[in-house]
Amino acid sequence: MALTILKGTIVSAPAPGWLEVTEGGFLTAEEGRVSGVFPVLPERYAGAAVEDWGDALILQAPMDLHLHAPQYPMRGCGMDLPLLDWLNAYAFPTEARFSDPDYARELYRALARELIESGTTRVCMFSSLHREATLILMEELERAGVTGYVGKVNMDRNGGKNLQETTEESRRETLLWLEACQDFRHIRPILTPRFIPSCTDGLMDFLGKLAAERSLPVQSHLSENTGEIQWVKELHPDCSQYWECYAKYGLWNRRTAMAHCVWSDERERRAMAEAGVLAVHCPDSNQNLCSGTAPVKTMLREGVRVALGSDIAGGDRLNMLDVAASAIRASKARRILDNWETEFLTVAEAWYLAVSAGASFFGAKPGFAPGEPLHALVLSDSGLPRSARPLTPAERLERCLYHRQRDAVQAVWSEGRQVFSRTR
Ligand code: GUN
Ligand code: FE
Repeated sequence: MALTILKGTIVSAPAPGWLEVTEGGFLTAEEGRVSGVFPVLPERYAGAAVEDWGDALILQAPMDLHLHAPQYPMRGCGMDLPLLDWLNAYAFPTEARFSDPDYARELYRALARELIESGTTRVCMFSSLHREATLILMEELERAGVTGYVGKVNMDRNGGKNLQETTEESRRETLLWLEACQDFRHIRPILTPRFIPSCTDGLMDFLGKLAAERSLPVQSHLSENTGEIQWVKELHPDCSQYWECYAKYGLWNRRTAMAHCVWSDERERRAMAEAGVLAVHCPDSNQNLCSGTAPVKTMLREGVRVALGSDIAGGDRLNMLDVAASAIRASKARRILDNWETEFLTVAEAWYLAVSAGASFFGAKPGFAPGEPLHALVLSDSGLPRSARPLTPAERLERCLYHRQRDAVQAVWSEGRQVFSRTR
């Protein structure tokens, strides 16, 4: 039997705002599935090999619920533009380059590697509209050990001359892509209408029916920027709010992930909470593109499911520890904007959003729940300046979110397999 036993300072986030800490503990997995976290190694494992990581932190591996793979080469570019101008000037021309399979292979191999080296093992990712490059992306993620969802983007309007399909092409390419991705073991397809301005009613109708017929999840963008929201109103005068444009095509349920939701008001948030739609908070992107400051604490209080996304390349940071710290900062900015009437995210809450909140979207449970595939990373802080007093494990985690030594990630497990090791 394949057995993994990791010893160290184990910190997991089984519930919002709650860190479970086991110092000098043992995290065990059988056949790639967590069997438990123990302060003392159970008798049944006596004599088995133990990987002793000293007092290094052993954490759940983070998830990135929203990023654009073909924007990986343009991180940090055009950050002074608002969303719609940035899409036209930077994002669309960059994505158009992925008609070239060799370019896609090179960039996607580097992206997959960087994800794993950052400890991100589960993703919900946009590709471009290109079928071949999307399959290359899925291959490279599989090869590196990244798991989760990838979507061929659908866009049959407003993409300019180099990044647009006809409605018929979009339908045909989506069906061909779905056929071709049946053999991937760890990466699954997700339907991906880019956002309302990119998709005609005919295409949305097709995607809604396809999602229902094949029981497929869906990802898109919602209420990110005020100019975008105004445009959506003009395109769909029959819908009083942005979300209704998705709902009317059946693209609004527990298997729907909507990035941003910065400007979703109480009614739109209620529609999310009632349908179980996952809101993906992307704090770096929202600040870079001056989109706004999402009311994350309010969403959580109202019962909306919320997880975190890097939104590469609206966001410039791929590492989800950075994104968790950004989410805390954004929630503090929101508190100031709200006249100190809303709370900010605690470290334990932000970490829950990064490692556990998205689990249900992948059909998994939060924390190191027994029976779940092992997604873990070992994080060292021994290279940081020695603190004036010993830090608690929670304080060490906090410091690592804001500030880490280079090469902090020592080892990574994804769906039970060790996919990265720095030293062994
Ligand atoms: N809305 C539609 N497309 C995009 C994109 O690529 N990035 C962001 N941030 N928002 C979008
Ligand atoms: Fe996005």
